[in-house]
Amino acid sequence: MVNHIKIKNICCIGAGYVGGPTMAVIADHCPHINIVVIDHNKKRINAWNDENLDKLPIFEPGLKEIISRVRNRNLFFTSNTGDHIKNSDMIFISVNTPIKTKGLGAGQASNLYWVESCAREIALKGKGFTIVVEKSTLPVRTAETIKHILDNSTNSNINQVEKSFSVLSNPEFLSEGNAINDLENPDRILIGGEDNSSIKALEEIYLNWVPKSKIIHTNLWSSELSKLTANAFLAQRISSINSISALCETTGANVMEVSHAVGLDKRIGSEFLNPGPGFGGSCFKKDILNLVYICRFLGLDEVADYWESVVLINSWQQKRIYSKIVSKLYGNILNKQLTILGFTFKSNTNDTRESPAIQISYDLISEGAQLVITDPKVNPQQVRFELNRINNIQENPIEEIDKKWKFERDTYKSVKDSDAIIFLTDWEEYRHLNWEEISTLMRLPSWVFDTRNVTNKNKLAQLNLNYWKLGDC
Ligand code: NAD
Ligand code: UDX
Repeated sequence: MVNHIKIKNICCIGAGYVGGPTMAVIADHCPHINIVVIDHNKKRINAWNDENLDKLPIFEPGLKEIISRVRNRNLFFTSNTGDHIKNSDMIFISVNTPIKTKGLGAGQASNLYWVESCAREIALKGKGFTIVVEKSTLPVRTAETIKHILDNSTNSNINQVEKSFSVLSNPEFLSEGNAINDLENPDRILIGGEDNSSIKALEEIYLNWVPKSKIIHTNLWSSELSKLTANAFLAQRISSINSISALCETTGANVMEVSHAVGLDKRIGSEFLNPGPGFGGSCFKKDILNLVYICRFLGLDEVADYWESVVLINSWQQKRIYSKIVSKLYGNILNKQLTILGFTFKSNTNDTRESPAIQISYDLISEGAQLVITDPKVNPQQVRFELNRINNIQENPIEEIDKKWKFERDTYKSVKDSDAIIFLTDWEEYRHLNWEEISTLMRLPSWVFDTRNVTNKNKLAQLNLNYWKLGDC
């Protein structure tokens, strides 16, 4: 249709963990392109526009430096759609795709409400030829739905001449805490699509900083499915090593030694073999369950069962850690003060979505423990939100839960008078704590539970601290 498309104006719908950092990096490398990021969450947009860069809604190492260069130069954040969709040559859909909580597929299928709203808005407001790019992680064949909405939402023939659309799939593989590095040096850029001019236009943007050899092309469905598959494979490795951690604890093997030895096989590789309290984050569980749902829908029950077991082991690992804590504390945690070190799902992010700390904290509270929760980046409102959400699922009065925990930013104050401290996030600063001081602050006999391999067993033994490390007997 069109031979060479030069992109001058981009719009991204969704200013979240993906939309914000991704557009910032594109803007940085493409000063000739004007980018507007739209989000209907005004509070989030205000935070993106805040003069004080420490108030950006997302904490990512390196993000504020880029934002300070590109914001209001060629990157703009707004909650007002205005003419931005009309004026854009390319529109990224980067909105949330959580699990459905109601109706058909509840608990597994993706909720495409927000994606569909974007498609309808683009169909209504788009003008001329517009390339629509799926950035969100989506069930395979969603591009078909988007295209159908785009092509069938205006009934006048004149409008059809005035506007036309091409849909590409360009999934995002960044991991939080390392987002800027992942965006700057991606392992690959995946572009799925049919229209060559559109594919070339998107490729040209990435070529401003990504080598051509790293840009791969597939059909739309392979691209959509590759994203779900990549996340499923990564999560599967974590469940695999976590299952072995339990075996280590009863056989005298050490999971770190096993992980190291196994990872040296270059066919296996050493990454994503760290045992822990289970994977958290907004993606793994949701994307695997979505895969499970699609497989069951298509009658592939064995495939569905296989992938579902990755999620089941993950929940089991969290329950296992909770039970271990209770049994080591003499089977009784009623009114004992326990300190949770780390509430985010991993270090270097302020994101708590699906953090293993939520379930483990909730189970400890439910059994009567008094928690002190500390984290370098989380705020108490966020902790309350997460505990409230899980509590709603269990239907207990939230006021009762509120009485059972408090937040303390300072790590040393957080351990004062505690019976036990429990490491749930791998923040770097937890590797450099002053244990001489901590051991004098806690109530005796004191316990340390390390699920993230951030402590040194020998050091703690010298200080008479009782100790349990995940995957070590
Ligand atoms: P997020 O919840 O942080 O951000 C999504 C934003 O979209 C929200 O701020 C929401 O207000 C906004 N939004 C929703 N519908 C809108 C509409 N119609 N108009 C304007 N704004 C709208 O989500 P996220 O973590 O950025 O993830 C976005 C997508 O990217 C998801 O599909 C996710 O699976 C995928 N993904 C996420 C990550 C990650 O690390 N978080 C990595 C790769 C892919
Ligand atoms: C993941 C994918 O890595 C990324 O490619 C995709 O785009 C989005 O989903 P993210 O969830 O941000 O990224 O972080 P990731 O580093 O994958 O960690 C996910 C969870 O697994 C965290 O809770 C982390 O602590 C845990 N994890 C990771 C382990 O327990 N062990 C490991 O070896 C690695």
